[in-house]
Amino acid sequence: MAESMQGMKRTCRCAELDESMIGQQLTLMGWCHKQRDLGGLVFITLRDRSGEVQLLIDETSPEDAQAKAALVRSEFVIAATGTLRKREAANPNMKTGQVELLVTELRILSESLTPPFYIEEEIDTKESLRLKYRYLDLRRPDMQSKMMLRHRITKLTRDYYDESGFLEIETPMLIRSTPEGARDYLVPSRVFPGQFFALPQSPQLYKQLLMLSGYDRYIQIARCFRDEDLRADRQPEFTQIDLEMAFVDMEDVIAVNEGYLKRLFSEIMGIEIELPLPRLSWHEAMERYGSDKPDLRIGMELKNISDLVADSSFKVFSDAIENGGSVRMIAVPDGSSLSRKEIDSLGEFVKTYRAKGLAWLTVEEKPRGSILKFVDTDLVQKMAERAGAQVGDLLLIVADKNEVVFDALGQLRCEVAKRMNMYSDEDYKLLWVTDFPLLEHDEEAGRYVAKHHPFTSPKDEDMELLETDPAAVRAKAYDIILNGTELGGGSIRIHDQKLQQKMFSLLGFSEEQAWNRFGYLLEAFKYGVPPHGGLAFGLDRLVMLLTHSESIRDVIAFPKVQNSSCLMTDAPGDVDQSQLEELGLLLDPKIQQEMEGSEQD
Ligand code: AMO
Ligand code: AMP
Repeated sequence: MAESMQGMKRTCRCAELDESMIGQQLTLMGWCHKQRDLGGLVFITLRDRSGEVQLLIDETSPEDAQAKAALVRSEFVIAATGTLRKREAANPNMKTGQVELLVTELRILSESLTPPFYIEEEIDTKESLRLKYRYLDLRRPDMQSKMMLRHRITKLTRDYYDESGFLEIETPMLIRSTPEGARDYLVPSRVFPGQFFALPQSPQLYKQLLMLSGYDRYIQIARCFRDEDLRADRQPEFTQIDLEMAFVDMEDVIAVNEGYLKRLFSEIMGIEIELPLPRLSWHEAMERYGSDKPDLRIGMELKNISDLVADSSFKVFSDAIENGGSVRMIAVPDGSSLSRKEIDSLGEFVKTYRAKGLAWLTVEEKPRGSILKFVDTDLVQKMAERAGAQVGDLLLIVADKNEVVFDALGQLRCEVAKRMNMYSDEDYKLLWVTDFPLLEHDEEAGRYVAKHHPFTSPKDEDMELLETDPAAVRAKAYDIILNGTELGGGSIRIHDQKLQQKMFSLLGFSEEQAWNRFGYLLEAFKYGVPPHGGLAFGLDRLVMLLTHSESIRDVIAFPKVQNSSCLMTDAPGDVDQSQLEELGLLLDPKIQQEMEGSEQD
């Protein structure tokens, strides 16, 4: 039985009413959250995106309404007209708990099966079930409030950049592949069989071309696609707040975006952040925190103790130093109270970051530890001094190649802080990390790759090193970090064709290859290019952090799971043979067989 709503018009949303409206005749529409039939008296909690309100159908309600009220079940869509009145037993836990609607007309607009899980806040349902029935999951109040907050953030973003002179310009989704470090999603062309579009990993080259076209400040809430391994803060399809500015240097880009973050935190979170935000060079971030995205809510900075242990009889230490590596440590406040089992599990933890072991020492009159054979009390004291450690603290030490030491201790620092509850989720620590290396050596490929992307400018003072020591060149690149997550990143770009070509050759592209892939950019660069630079924030990550969501999936209406599939639509799916033929595509016979096999199962 699905009735029409003809003749009924919704007056307002459920939780938009209040005591000032008592006595008014109102029409409400929404989902039945709960129906309680006390015989002659039916209570229905009606829900929409604003919240809930109680409907009451009693013996004064028309018989038709009484009969229908008895049939209403959870998640039925209903329309009710009635008079708002003061509720006898007020419910202080409900925003509209002071009032109820005494129903004079009731219609069932749509029935519902019993949903596979309760439509309630913070339900403890398996995520796979929630994602299969995402449209029901999205009815839950906590999901709705996240979606609404995301909308408010997007709106504030557009407003802020509009007021700062930025123009929103859309860029295409079907493009020529642009290297940003991840794998492309490809779209076969029907018109040009054997050729492919790529979906943009970001609008990078388009926004640079827009600067060349004279639009001088561009913004886009842009969809990006990257076929990479997913983690808790990564999706194959995600959204960037993408912007670019002409006639600017790094300070200009940073200033505009700090203004944005200030307004965002003030209006959305009610938090006044202090500007300018702290900054660390990449080098300093690595030395002090072992990470290029340090969580500044946490202390326990890394300390280099290579000089103290260089002559150590502990081979692990002296060998690491001899081989160009180092020995570093963190000091855990009150860490000597940790049990052996807990310390051993930290040792296991660092092994997942390629460290071969974790040495430990307690700062006590009579130190305990795993390497007492090799260190005396005097040395422990010197180490403790270097860390500014107190009696009762625990020193955790890793020796290895620098890369491994940084990674292991950088991660360990965060893990220890998490296990020992050393920080609060309500605390927000933003910072810029600047002066990244321009290039990174890819061991596997045996060549350099761009640390940010190939369009990032080297620092002026390092330009000469491009010839002599490319690995030492620093870039005009900057990342914005929030509580240990990379929220965004950007750079000042190369705007000189010759330098761009030089960069491509450092990255191992022949001139021909470079023209083949980026010919349109190199050609464009012949026609008057303003100096320019920009940045992109990850919008999903931003919303995730501001809503304390555990996963990026919780702030995306229809997300993908770990293997990049969609549990609701079952995408990706197979297509008709005729579609493949039209595209000139032939499936690998092995894959064809597997598909036929799985169809028969
Ligand atoms: P970058 O690759 O650093 O820079 O991306 C910018 C920001 O986008 C977010 N992000 C992601 N979010 C969710 N899922 C993903 N798979 C994902 N990948 C990236 C991060 C990241 O900081 N074109 C340049 C920007 C520029 O130079 O202006 C770019 O895309 O928060
Ligand atoms: P062992 O002599 O192998 O028992 O090691 C003594 C201690 O040194 C143990 O606590 C090991 O975990 C630790 N250890 C081993 N390799 C390293 C390393 N590369 N860095 C720091 N500590 C290590």
